[in-house]
Amino acid sequence: MATAQAHALIEALPQRESTTSVLLPQASPTFVLTPAVHAVTERALAYLDCGYAVHLAGPAGTGKTTLAFHIAAQLARPVTLIHGNDEFGSSDLVGKDAGYRKSSVVDNYIRSVLKTEENMQVHWQSNRLTTACEHGHTLIYDEFNRSKPEANNALLSILEEGLLNLPKGGGNDGYLQVHPSFRAIFTSNPEEYAGVHKTQDALLDRMVTIDVGHYDTATERDIAHAKSHLPLEDCSVIVELASLLRGMGSGHRPTIRSCIALCRVLAHRARRVDVKDAFFRDAAWDVFGGILRDVSGKGPKPGVDDLMALISELQSGGRKGHIHSAAHSQATAS
Ligand SMILES: Nc1ncnc2c1ncn2[C@@H]1O[C@H](COP(=O)(O)OP(=O)(O)OP(=O)(O)O)[C@@H](O)[C@H]1O
Ligand SMILES: [Mg+2]
Repeated sequence: MATAQAHALIEALPQRESTTSVLLPQASPTFVLTPAVHAVTERALAYLDCGYAVHLAGPAGTGKTTLAFHIAAQLARPVTLIHGNDEFGSSDLVGKDAGYRKSSVVDNYIRSVLKTEENMQVHWQSNRLTTACEHGHTLIYDEFNRSKPEANNALLSILEEGLLNLPKGGGNDGYLQVHPSFRAIFTSNPEEYAGVHKTQDALLDRMVTIDVGHYDTATERDIAHAKSHLPLEDCSVIVELASLLRGMGSGHRPTIRSCIALCRVLAHRARRVDVKDAFFRDAAWDVFGGILRDVSGKGPKPGVDDLMALISELQSGGRKGHIHSAAHSQATAS
């Protein structure tokens, strides 16, 4: 399959007592497949082909979810998508008894004889994980560590023994043999993020974790360009600026999302990266100014002129490694 996707079509609910919808990943024209994306995809596919679950771990905005869909698309199986949720219990993944179904037959054929027959059946409702295991879907469990660790316990036996242990008395046999085509791709944000739980070692031990960082600037430039249609050279300056700001701070912000946002707004208003253009100056400050202030440390807070100075330096092929001190001296000067 060529450039596969980040979006998917939702198909009709599949029959049975299930709350699951099935996604069929489709190639997106804006998906960017550079050597960096290709390399990580190939590695993930190798692990999946050997039956291992893949875990894409990394900070926000590094393309994990998009990559998970792209990898899943290569497997050419229906995709079941679950988003981690702190409110989840195991039944939200696996399913639950949804009450009883009672049927009665009343036979009153002969007037004087009344025969009634009652039948009680447990009404079992599968949830997404069970449906994926049963039908051999590719499971994408996005941000799985937003669910409490105990909610994810069912995954232990699924990944290790290929068995899904269903709750007793659930109108089922107690176990479900996992379909041989079932594959699982997990994504997660670092544990220090708000609303993220620590994952039990036993679960991490059953998957191959690929640490996903920010892409190289050429890939980010192509992504920003594909998503905005702003000229490549402008996208290049913007992603390089983002990369510099990351280097000055935590290494995580700004993400490719901020770059895409600025590029899209500029393209939408038919503007370019131009430090003399008031619209560009304000928009760039809105998107990146807060981060520049965060990373500037003590001393006078930098303003929009300092941001523009960084951009001018990038446009003139300035020294990237010294941009921090350049920003600082600009901040001090203003
Ligand atoms: N290969 C790619 N081609 C095109 N766009 C991409 C690609 N990778 C990432 N993007 C875009 O970059 C942005 C961030 O990607 P994504 O949402 O996948 O990141 P994430 O790591 O899942 O972030 P979060 O941790 O916040 O959920 C999105 O707008 C996405 O469309
Ligand atoms: Mg994501």
